[in-house]
Amino acid sequence: MLYDEKSLRDTATTYGQAHLFRFWEMLNEAGRQELLSNLAQVDFPLMQRLIDTWVENEPSLERFKQIDPVPVINLDAPDGDAAWQAGEEALRAGKVGIFLVAGGQGTRLGYAGPKGTYPVAPITGRSFFQYHADKIYRLQECYQCVLPWYIMVSETNEEATKHYFEENNYFDLSPDNIIFLKQRMMPCVDTNGKFLLQSPSALAMNPNGHGGCIPAMVENGVLDDARKRGVEYLSYFQVDNWAIKVADPRLIGYHVLHQAQMSSKNHRKNTPREAVGVHCICDGEYRVIEYSELDIYPQLLETDAAGHVKYYAGNPAIHVISVDFVQDIYDHFDKFPWHRAFKKIPYVDESGKLIRPETPNGYKFETFVFDALRFIQHEPVAVEIERDGEYTPTKQFEGDNSVMAARKSMNRFWAKWLEKSGVAVPRDEAGECMVNLEISPRFALTEGEFLAKSEDKNWKVDGDFALDNTGNIIIVS
Ligand code: UD1
Repeated sequence: MLYDEKSLRDTATTYGQAHLFRFWEMLNEAGRQELLSNLAQVDFPLMQRLIDTWVENEPSLERFKQIDPVPVINLDAPDGDAAWQAGEEALRAGKVGIFLVAGGQGTRLGYAGPKGTYPVAPITGRSFFQYHADKIYRLQECYQCVLPWYIMVSETNEEATKHYFEENNYFDLSPDNIIFLKQRMMPCVDTNGKFLLQSPSALAMNPNGHGGCIPAMVENGVLDDARKRGVEYLSYFQVDNWAIKVADPRLIGYHVLHQAQMSSKNHRKNTPREAVGVHCICDGEYRVIEYSELDIYPQLLETDAAGHVKYYAGNPAIHVISVDFVQDIYDHFDKFPWHRAFKKIPYVDESGKLIRPETPNGYKFETFVFDALRFIQHEPVAVEIERDGEYTPTKQFEGDNSVMAARKSMNRFWAKWLEKSGVAVPRDEAGECMVNLEISPRFALTEGEFLAKSEDKNWKVDGDFALDNTGNIIIVS
């Protein structure tokens, strides 16, 4: 597609961004087209609004008169069985779709490929994507349904992600039911509100945050696709959660029983400063307050006499979102909040030299999907979960929220299954599982299923132990 240089140049000039054409004379035709195609993606009025609000002026902080803990549906809530059944019914009726956000840049993990391709499983090297795919495969078998899988990618990883699925034969799922959608990119700006160039022919840009899934769903036809398939509820999660219970009947069921627009899971925070968002009610509105804002709202750090965090509902970023609610939010997306992050953004200077700044030099703008919760018109549906077997955030290799911590958590989780089935698992003095374990979700998704299938197997665990789709031991040479 050829872009109209004059109109894009005029628009850039009108919005004070004429410097983007600084290197025009020295660009070849491909470079010129690249620059124009970058500019054609930009929503200039929106960028101007963000620059006016966030760069030209220091926006005033939101202050709340009252912040209350969100009312939580606890693990032992009496209607758990009813919720489970309602969730299973929705699955059997084909009313559920899967929505995965995988458009982020995964910089903290220091891994070059898309985060979903990371070999998180310690024995087989299976990736996040493979585990998610295997869970979907098994759910389809169990509920005799089709679970369309919508995967949000971005400019930064679209090609590599699609290629990965192709070369892995879509993990035996039907490619017709795997739909990739691309989120939009946002220009990064310097402290004067000028767009930065990452090369003479390309803007420095970042994906527009996971909240970008709302416009991406509507504008890429995903919402129409979901409606055509009879899907009413989207099971939403993040790519870096190995343990995720994809399309968990319990959460879907609570969502259905409460006729909710958007429902969430939450886990008990370990410490007041744990790096997770906090679900709470701010002046009557459902909010998730980010961990970066804890010092603005010090009450969120309070503990009770026993040392437990009072505002304990941590955000594992797991939701069920109704298809109709996505449309509602999209129709009012101009009211959706934006967030600004001050970051180190590589850029080319006036002489065309690439500079990698050592301190933050510019802003990235993003939206967060959990901000949709403030628009719900029903009581909060905030469902408590255990961490092991549900939530293993993987932001770095070691330490908190890491690959190593995720592996430990899954070992703990699967060790219990094995022990309940009568198989001894080596543990150290502190009770920690001493070997790596892996159980293919295609063999067993739940403990109940595992116990039923494990009779007469006579497994022995005296080293790393992995089971394949049919329950055979995987020998890794
Ligand atoms: C996020 C949540 C935090 C939560 C934690 C749980 C935010 C701002 N905060 O933190 O409340 O407790 O996860 O693990 O999200 N993504 C996109 N497109 C983007 C940006 C991100 O698809 O433009 C996807 C990523 O691929 C990833 C997910 O969103 O799957 C989360 O991004 P990440 O940067 O890991 O979020 P955190 O800041 O760690």
